Amino acid sequence: MRIGIPVETTQGEKRVATVPDVVEKIIKLGFQVSVESDAGNGANFSDDTYRAAGADIIKGVDKLWAESDIVFKVTVPTSAEVALMREGITLIGFIWPAQNPELMQQLAAKKATVLAIDCLPRMLSRAQKMDALTSQAGVAGYRAVIEAANVFGRFFNGQITAAGKVPPAKVFIAGAGVAGLAAIGAAASLGAIVRANDTRAEVADQVKSLGGEFVRVDYEEEGGGGGGYAKVMSEGFQQAQREMYARQAKEVDIIITTALIPGKPAPRLITAEMVQSMKPGSVIVDMAAERGGNCELTEPGLAVEKHGVTIVGYTDLNSRLARQSSTLYATNLFRLTEELCKTKDGVINVNMEDDAIRGLTVIKDGAITWPAPPPKLPAAATKPAAAKPITPAPAHGEPSAPMSGTKLAVFFGIGAALFWLIGAYAPAAFLGHFTVFVLACFVGYMVVWNVTPALHTPLMSVTNAISSIIAIGALVQIAPPLSMLGNIMDRPDGWIRWLAILGIALTSINMFGGFAVTQRMLAMFRK
Ligand code: NAI
Repeated sequence: MRIGIPVETTQGEKRVATVPDVVEKIIKLGFQVSVESDAGNGANFSDDTYRAAGADIIKGVDKLWAESDIVFKVTVPTSAEVALMREGITLIGFIWPAQNPELMQQLAAKKATVLAIDCLPRMLSRAQKMDALTSQAGVAGYRAVIEAANVFGRFFNGQITAAGKVPPAKVFIAGAGVAGLAAIGAAASLGAIVRANDTRAEVADQVKSLGGEFVRVDYEEEGGGGGGYAKVMSEGFQQAQREMYARQAKEVDIIITTALIPGKPAPRLITAEMVQSMKPGSVIVDMAAERGGNCELTEPGLAVEKHGVTIVGYTDLNSRLARQSSTLYATNLFRLTEELCKTKDGVINVNMEDDAIRGLTVIKDGAITWPAPPPKLPAAATKPAAAKPITPAPAHGEPSAPMSGTKLAVFFGIGAALFWLIGAYAPAAFLGHFTVFVLACFVGYMVVWNVTPALHTPLMSVTNAISSIIAIGALVQIAPPLSMLGNIMDRPDGWIRWLAILGIALTSINMFGGFAVTQRMLAMFRK
């Protein structure tokens, strides 16, 4: 099948749905790729780089849509693009079906199959590699910090120079979801003092692990609305939160707002009075501008100055880092293509039995299949972890269903009878080994089952390293008795020694490698 990549026609959009490196990988899956001439210009990918990667460069958007079986897009297709579509085409990109009911009807009329990347069931861990919302929000969060730094008139980090002392900038991040966490990481790495708040108190550890300080609202209320998303908070909480935000506004130099509750207008967190109370030269970047803004004075798409504070309401933060955004988006779509084409023969199979694919598919052969039923989830599934630090799982594995009393008694009865039989009839030499074996099983069980499941892989690598203790046997082999110091090859058992030396070399790799791997894996869990 042929995959087409058109020029994005939305005003100001610089991203492109695939990049040359990914084109090569798509071709390896058996597809042909057509790229509309100049499609990658905004993201600094020339036609020549696409051509070198194996794509056909097509001049003329009509030809591209006419020849493609599948089209990858970034933004929601315009009516003009829908008009260009031929019947039965497969379209993959952002669709936002809830906000675009008319578009859904137009696409259904084209008997299209539409996979909306924004409808990916994010709580499925298998889906993380395809999660374009996360990859794009991460880039946007980073870019928000860069925009703030661009407007802010000072360094982010504190400095003591011959010309004087510069205090570090104070940055406050409202909302520590994907974009918020990326912003915390970027601002902290520039040397700023970073504080953050979120209604979901469970993100406090993630804020800390990225170098920020979590500022709590002085009001007890659970902020999680399920699936890792927030809920609308009570009036009492909102009042306490406003008071805390008002204090922060007076103290900090930069506020970056990312607060979002899916399906609701952006919560108003920064009032006009708070803006007025900020120091002159301060900056607010309102990432929620497109959804009405977290700040009362935001003007979507613009950077405006109000009361000496610059309020940045850009809605195109991803386009402002188009090359990075496109590369991550292209990788998300490639991972999706892999899922759609497991046979690697250049033909896709939209398998509606697959939870991830079912969630994405909003129209199948002209029939609207949105909204998808909720995917079947493991009990404690949460929202995407891609931008979140890894935290160890609880100290014990999943408790299994307890055995009934009768079953337990039968089990122990059989065990005791077996042990009695072995004790009564087995030879004495066997009994010694058997006792060691039973004890080893018991110790092994206690060690492994009391280690957090997430740490089983480092446990295996350290066990592997420790098992290299067999090196002692080889060391004994090569150690010459004091009376026989001399050329070991002169001795009749010389070849055994060379084998022992080889054994030590290999065991050393196992030992040092095992410990090194363990250290690296454990480092992933350290904060
Ligand atoms: P997310 O859902 O991962 O994070 C939103 C966070 O806000 C959640 O952690 C939630 O608990 C928190 N929150 C909700 N209500 C709150 C409140 N009242 N007070 C404090 N925290 C609250 O969303 P994501 O992906 O991080 O996106 C954040 C925002 O950035 C969205 O509005 C999104 O539309 C926007 N965005 C803007 C771009 C631009 O170019 N301007 C580009 C990409 C995303």
